[in-house]
Amino acid sequence: MYKLKIISSTVRPGRKGPMIAGWIKDVAEKSGAFEVEVLDLGEINLPLMNEPLHPIMQQYEHEYTKQWAAKIDEADAFIFVTAEYDYSYPASLKNAIEYLMHEWAYKPAGIVSYSLGPFAGVRAVQSLKADLISLRVVGLAEMVNIPSLTQFVNDDGIFTPNEILSKSADMMLTQLLRWTKGMKLIKEEAFDNVAV
Ligand SMILES: Cc1cc2nc3c(=O)[nH]c(=O)nc-3n(C[C@H](O)[C@H](O)[C@H](O)COP(=O)(O)O)c2cc1C
Repeated sequence: MYKLKIISSTVRPGRKGPMIAGWIKDVAEKSGAFEVEVLDLGEINLPLMNEPLHPIMQQYEHEYTKQWAAKIDEADAFIFVTAEYDYSYPASLKNAIEYLMHEWAYKPAGIVSYSLGPFAGVRAVQSLKADLISLRVVGLAEMVNIPSLTQFVNDDGIFTPNEILSKSADMMLTQLLRWTKGMKLIKEEAFDNVAV
């Protein structure tokens, strides 16, 4: 089984991210191909990037960085669950990304975005994908975009997707497995032959 880390990006009290991450975790587990773990940045609670050395050196001073690096390093694939904050993705995710470099490289990522508004977080996705390129993370074309989030959440805080969202999630997971297999080969070759 491939190791899939679902990164829930928002950190504010009352955030909806873990609810969405919990849903996509269930979908991923049902696919049968992944050993899945949710990494909630709100719980991990990384301070603003404060490592003295560039992450390319992988000489981390802080214990929380070592733990974060170990979690990302063991991943074969990611799903980023991101809200849209001010037409982009949250600063908490940018911060968590910046802490590391090699640990991200040559792995695929699905993205699940959501927002209160009708645009479903697609502007956050575009910003995130642009930044993932520098880390050699491949952001998949297939993704899940949840518009007007409150329409899918009942009074008890239970998220219920419609058919379009469920189908999008299945398609993304199918493609994520495909890319995970391929990227494993690319990753082995990259780390065998060249310093990245
Ligand atoms: C700081 C901030 C900025 C936001 N900016 C946008 C935005 O640009 N577009 C949008 O549709 N919703 C925006 N929202 C609404 C969020 O998409 C919505 O509150 C969502 O639940 C936030 O994710 P979270 O609950 O996991 O923090 C914003 C919310 C916050 C707190």
